[in-house]
Amino acid sequence: MERLVIKGLSPLKGSVRISGSKNATLPIMAATLLCSDEVILSGVPDLEDIKVMSQVLRLLGAKVKKEKDVLIIDSSSVNAIELPDAMTRKMRASNLVMGPLLGRFHHAKISYPGGCAIGSRPMNLHLKGFLDLGFGVEAKYGFMEGKGKPRGGKEILLDTPSVGATENIMMAAALVSGETVIRNAAREPEIVDLQNFLNEMGARIRGAGLDTIYIKGVRKLGKAEYKIIPDRIEAGTFMAAAAISDSDVFIENIVLEYVRPVISKFREMGVNIIENGSSLRIIGKRPYKPVDVKTMPHPGFPTDMQAQMMALLTTVAGTSIVVETIFENRFMHVQELRRMGAEIALEGRAAIIKGKEKLEGAIVDATDLRAGAALIIAGLFAEGTTQINNIYHIERGYENIHLKLQSLGADIKRVLS
Ligand code: EPZ
Repeated sequence: MERLVIKGLSPLKGSVRISGSKNATLPIMAATLLCSDEVILSGVPDLEDIKVMSQVLRLLGAKVKKEKDVLIIDSSSVNAIELPDAMTRKMRASNLVMGPLLGRFHHAKISYPGGCAIGSRPMNLHLKGFLDLGFGVEAKYGFMEGKGKPRGGKEILLDTPSVGATENIMMAAALVSGETVIRNAAREPEIVDLQNFLNEMGARIRGAGLDTIYIKGVRKLGKAEYKIIPDRIEAGTFMAAAAISDSDVFIENIVLEYVRPVISKFREMGVNIIENGSSLRIIGKRPYKPVDVKTMPHPGFPTDMQAQMMALLTTVAGTSIVVETIFENRFMHVQELRRMGAEIALEGRAAIIKGKEKLEGAIVDATDLRAGAALIIAGLFAEGTTQINNIYHIERGYENIHLKLQSLGADIKRVLS
């Protein structure tokens, strides 16, 4: 079983390049099902989740080739509308094929993607959107099936700005005649990237990035070449790694506007961040001030940075409060950070952190993707050695994170135990 072994307290120096966004690539890969031409995606990160989505597309009949950071996808021969149970269980984001399959074939059947460590992850808003578009929708025997003749010209109001539901509905509506309007849409940058990709294939969508998205259905979507945006959460993760250690790090290949919420929180703590076009420089010089963090839909502070921020705050003297408003169980990293000496009390959705400038190396488990990233960050600061088990969680969403940290001078190794 692979694990990461980190010896703390090495200063980080040098520059690191951010890879393409996992959460932009996954919906865009699903969207290729809407067109029967070849699509070329570049800037694709080399991640486990991308491999799984490639398997999903192949299972549906698409041809998928990967050459370095380029994916060539041809969905002309897609002939299936059903995804086997194993796939959706393997990766929840497989549910993003439902919208495009409905859009192109007016029929889709996927098994109900279960919850995961961080929460129940329901699909009710996705299904509500499909129903509003005129598809018949059934959820039974563990499957969700949509079929029927859609009619455009609908207004769809989302109870909460769900990222996945916004993406699935955009894709389901792209080929539906008339104008579909999604209100209370999610505003994440990955939604903007999906809109830009769909429009590159000939769709007519506007408003992504704001809370109302307008989709004018078109008859056909054709070939396109598209470059994926960089991963704002990987960027934030490296920012936290730089801030926790005595560092001077350049982070390259960033869309500054997309990491604005994270930059502003770090600056509130007193972290020195110098912006420069598509890169930034972080000088990790303590002392920092304790801060309060509340996760919110974009452009609020991202839930995907909550664990990493908590790791940093456990080493900042004073009391910080972290409130997780998006997922009901996204504090799995707390018990692992406590094993490293962190003082964290949980009160429902709030974590009260009594920070102190000391952590001890320990043997800890990665329970989910971002919790694993938080443990790496804590390990960089802890005295002694930290061993992180179950690193497959981390490798789902971070491309060679140990090699990137090694290149900055961190004492981190990936070992087979
Ligand atoms: C996306 O998940 C991301 N995943 C998540 O990143 C991210 O944490 C999340 O958005 C929030 O930003 C991908 O893009 C592949 P949601 P998604 O639907 O779409 C509730 C990571 O670490 N909800 O916006 O599943 C839901 O319970 C991952 O990279 C409903 O109630 O998130 C949650 O409380 C983790 N009904 C809230 O909305 C629904 O039908 C946000 O979920 C759908 C969601």
